[in-house]
Amino acid sequence: MENIIVTGAAGFIGYNLTEKLVAKGYNILGLDNLQDCPEGHLKFERLGQLGFCREDIIYGHTIKSGHCSFIKSDITDISLIDRIFKENPCDILIHLAAQTGVRQSVSQPDIYMKNNINGFYNILETCRKYNIKKILFASSSSVYGENPDMPYREDFITDNPVSMYAVTKKTNELMAKAYSSLYGFNNIGLRFFTVYGPWVRSDMAAYIFMKAVLENNTINLYNNGFSLRDFTYIDDVTRSIELIMEKMIQDDSRVPLYELYNVGNSMPVTLVDYLNCIKKHMGKNTTIINKPLQEGDVTATYANVDKIFDFIGFKPQTNIDTGVKKMVDWFLNMKK
Ligand SMILES: NC(=O)c1ccc[n+]([C@@H]2O[C@H](COP(=O)([O-])OP(=O)(O)OC[C@H]3O[C@@H](n4cnc5c(N)ncnc54)[C@H](O)[C@@H]3O)[C@@H](O)[C@H]2O)c1
Repeated sequence: MENIIVTGAAGFIGYNLTEKLVAKGYNILGLDNLQDCPEGHLKFERLGQLGFCREDIIYGHTIKSGHCSFIKSDITDISLIDRIFKENPCDILIHLAAQTGVRQSVSQPDIYMKNNINGFYNILETCRKYNIKKILFASSSSVYGENPDMPYREDFITDNPVSMYAVTKKTNELMAKAYSSLYGFNNIGLRFFTVYGPWVRSDMAAYIFMKAVLENNTINLYNNGFSLRDFTYIDDVTRSIELIMEKMIQDDSRVPLYELYNVGNSMPVTLVDYLNCIKKHMGKNTTIINKPLQEGDVTATYANVDKIFDFIGFKPQTNIDTGVKKMVDWFLNMKK
């Protein structure tokens, strides 16, 4: 089976994807710097699910569990990334590592520039050096900015970012496009729309809401809960990645050299309805404090997914009620 490097493998999407690909028999090498990660953090628990012990994780060292290897490594550490790519054959690289979260990018743009732009540049350059020319990378719905035309299509102009996070994702798309045209890379970018589900990030609304409901804490609902998000269930996201990856591996002649695809549910829900769905499945209520829209946030996201469906014959399909129930079940089970 193919050798696949997954950056950001201890993250929400990276872990769910890695678990799925390992089960299918692929050889996965996961990289992650485990940043902002105190003892007991979800990232260690996710790695635990993959068979790795917290005590065995040492920066720069390879640990193995069946078809899966993991190296704690920082993509901005070019000498380590060079050694890893030199020593590990790779058929396709899936780049998910990033500094995430739009709001923090307004106050601390430097860490976004470093991890998302310099980090991706290191990945692209090291891939060029070791002739790894198939890359799937994470972009984001945030590149669409505050755009009243909906649903968002991939050919919309994305020149009006409202956060530095969005700037880094748009920059990543341009970098990938240049590597395709200059060096013949097969680079496919996926614009994810608010992903949720089991193992969701602890800084995302889903986790914050579930934790607050469980602990009877009040919830700050920004934009008075009116913001619309095209919440997309994690299994639909990993399935989309897997199907595109398989096409790239097979050298399918219909795989474009460079392309961008929306990965969204195409069924936006207001934040307040999302919270109500979480409360329903948790069987508990909570107090809400309405707050204004936060800097860096947009009021709505809504994906047109015709393009990805034309390409892989699949588009996200999990309805919010089903997806939230599975996420709540995971959360309550974890908190037992
Ligand atoms: N989750 C979403 O709703 C969403 C939406 C749009 C785009 N995305 C993008 O999808 C990707 C995965 O998102 P996620 O939700 O799994 O985020 P995540 O934060 O859970 O995962 C990203 C991982 O990258 C790692 N990382 C960050 N900087 C690194 C560095 N310099 N070196 C090595 N590892 C580093 C982090 O430790 C983290 O584990 C990201 O690129 C994100 O921008 C996610």
